[in-house]
Amino acid sequence: MAKTMLLKNAAELVTCRGAAPKIGAAMADIGVIPDGAMWIEDGVIRRVGMTAEIVEGLDEEPDEVVDAAGRCVLPGFVDPHTHFLFGGYRAEEFSWRLRGDTYMQIMERGGGIVNTVQATRTSTTEELMEVGWKRLSSMLSFGVTTVEGKSGYGLDAATEIKQLEVMAQLGREHVVEVVPTFMGAHAVPAEYKGRTDEFVEYLLQSVLPVVAQRKLAEFCDVFCEKGVFSVEQSRRLLTAAQGLGMKAKVHADEIVSFGGAELAAELGAVSAEHLLHASDEGIHRMGEAGVIAVLLPATAFCLREPYARARFMIDHGVPVALATDFNPGSCFTESIPLVIALAALYMQMTPAEIVTALTINAAAAVGRADRIGSLEVGKQADFIVLEHPSHLYLPYHAGVNCVATVVKRGQVVNDRGLL
Ligand code: NIG
Ligand code: FE
Repeated sequence: MAKTMLLKNAAELVTCRGAAPKIGAAMADIGVIPDGAMWIEDGVIRRVGMTAEIVEGLDEEPDEVVDAAGRCVLPGFVDPHTHFLFGGYRAEEFSWRLRGDTYMQIMERGGGIVNTVQATRTSTTEELMEVGWKRLSSMLSFGVTTVEGKSGYGLDAATEIKQLEVMAQLGREHVVEVVPTFMGAHAVPAEYKGRTDEFVEYLLQSVLPVVAQRKLAEFCDVFCEKGVFSVEQSRRLLTAAQGLGMKAKVHADEIVSFGGAELAAELGAVSAEHLLHASDEGIHRMGEAGVIAVLLPATAFCLREPYARARFMIDHGVPVALATDFNPGSCFTESIPLVIALAALYMQMTPAEIVTALTINAAAAVGRADRIGSLEVGKQADFIVLEHPSHLYLPYHAGVNCVATVVKRGQVVNDRGLL
């Protein structure tokens, strides 16, 4: 017998229906069903509609009932860009930035990512499991049911593999689903300082093939940035990764305009991420190539940089997704409420576009739009119940977590007792 759940009486059932990234006006079409309901069997959505029609058509008693009267129900959020698995912290660097140092100045004098690399190399698997577990639980409380996690705090074969293996184990054991991305080209480690080409060669010869062969990552990402990896180096790495069956992502135009958006379009990458300084040309090419823009307003906020041009991108046919970029350096926050507030108030995104950017478009950015990101027949029953009646409260209740209940694969996995 299937395990069944009836979700009923939702003031707003926001379906976000779709199985591909949404562009332009479609980003604002979130498919709201008033007084909505869903019938779920074994973690899969079997019926969606208005409560009266769903309840009328029932021929069996559900095992579990979720009554969402007066509440808004949405697909579980997908956080499609994080670096959540790392050892150590960099609170001191943050205090230096408050004093006026820039992210790149700190990196150039030997701090930044390589500082976390040191701490991650010396962390045991158990230590990484413990911190990773807690961080996933925190994300879950914000309604995140799937998260992308990047390696890139190892920068050597052993530690990159350790990071990816721990993420895989967390994905199996924690309720939050983890999508692993290999990001060996996140920085040049101390032992290769001044020899970036040799480090790229090392990644190509000794790390990437092992990651691919052991199927440890679905995506490959590169920090394509002035003073880090050039467009040519990024192209080499990502082309090799694609040849080995991985999909490409690019950390593009975060600090300066550098051609990262153009590269993502050229390679047919799934996404280009950050894009604070993406050129008009790069954005147009992304639109033509269907590359998803994964925007990270909390990073711009923490670095006190200008926000990415979300409005321009949406108006030019680029599918936009939003993510936290949770990491120990540029953006130490897993707060979805912060991302929502910033996107609404500083990026001119509407509440509906923000919902799309955190659900179906984010699911597409992690290659899962066919399975998650919307509430439709056949999709996995990953959804959240807000303590409010409408999605309009997400930015309005500024900076506050209004997710009351989280359901993953048809199971209540987080209940803050707000209902
Ligand atoms: O997305 N820019 C590169 N990677 C991260 C920062 C990582 C770190 O500082 O530890 C980012 O901003
Ligand atoms: Fe990042």
